[in-house]
Amino acid sequence: MAEGASVGRRVEELTTPAFLVDLAKVKTNCANMLATCKTIGVSLRAQTKTHKTIECAVLQTGESKSGLVTSTLEEAEFYARHGFDDILYGYPLIPHHMPRVIALTRQLKKFHVMVDSQLAVDTLKDTPTPGKPWSVFLKVDCGNKRAGVWWEDEAGVDMALQLHNAPNITFVGVYVHCGNTYGAKRLLKFVDRLKQRGVTCTTVGTGSTPSCRQPSDNMKNLTEIHPGNYTFLDVQQWSLGSCSQEDIACCVATRVIGHYPHRNQMLIDCGFVGLTKQGYGHMDTGYGVFRGHPNLK
Ligand SMILES: Cc1ncc(COP(=O)(O)O)c(C=O)c1O
Repeated sequence: MAEGASVGRRVEELTTPAFLVDLAKVKTNCANMLATCKTIGVSLRAQTKTHKTIECAVLQTGESKSGLVTSTLEEAEFYARHGFDDILYGYPLIPHHMPRVIALTRQLKKFHVMVDSQLAVDTLKDTPTPGKPWSVFLKVDCGNKRAGVWWEDEAGVDMALQLHNAPNITFVGVYVHCGNTYGAKRLLKFVDRLKQRGVTCTTVGTGSTPSCRQPSDNMKNLTEIHPGNYTFLDVQQWSLGSCSQEDIACCVATRVIGHYPHRNQMLIDCGFVGLTKQGYGHMDTGYGVFRGHPNLK
C-alpha cells in the first residue's frame, strides 16, 4: 500500500520474506465494518495497531480521518501530523506521558486519554490544561484481564465520579477492549451504576474484531466500537470463526530454500519473527497456515 521498492512488482520478484497486503480485501473489510456500524447504530473508533499506515486509517474512517484509537503516543502523533483528528491514546495513562499528552491536546480538536488508576486521575486533576479540558475515557476490565478497573469494584465508579466532577476534565465515557456478550452486559451494568450516581457516559464502547464482526444484540446499546484487526484479519480470527480464509487480507511470501526428505521437512526463508512469535498454541497449525496446502505445517 505504501510507496516503496516493492510496489508494482510481481510477487515472484520480491525479496523474501515479504509481507503482502491485498488492498481489495482491506477495502472490503473496512467497508463492511463501517456498514455494520451503520446497521447497529454505533460509531467506529478504529484501532490502528494492526497496520500503522495512513492509507488504511483513511479506509477505516471512510475518508473522514476522524475517530481513531492508537496503542502508542508515537502512533497518535503520526496520525495527528497527517491530518487525523478525534484520536484516543488507548493505553493506561501514567505521569511520564503528560508532556506529549499536553502537546497533542493543544494540537488536535479532539484528543482523548484513557485512565484506569487513581494516579492517572490525580495527575490529570493536578495538571493545568493547555486551554481546554482533558478529555478522558475510563478503561474497564469486564473479564478479559487486560488493563482496566474491575467492573464490579466500587473503585471504578469512584474514579468516574472524580473525573465527572473535576472542573478541568471532560469525562467522555467508558472503554472495554473485548465486547463479547458477557463483556458488553457487564459494561452496561457498570454504566447503570454510574447513572445511579449521576454520572452519564456520552460514549460507551467495546471492541474487538470477533465480536464486532458478529455483533450481539447488546451492542445496539453501545455508542461506539473499536476493532482493529478486522482490516487485515489473520489465522487466529479464522480459527475463532470470525472470518473465512478468503477474507484474510495479508500473508507472508516465503521461499523454500531446502528440502530434507529423511526427516520430511522443508526449510523456508522466514523465521517466526516474520510470522508470529506467539504461534497458535490452541491450533495444530504452528505459526501459520500455508495457503492451498493444508497438509503442510
Ligand atoms: C485497547 C484496544 N482497543 C481495541 C483493540 C482492537 O482489538 P482487535 O485488534 O482484536 O480488533 C485492541 C487490540 O488489542 C486494544 O488493545
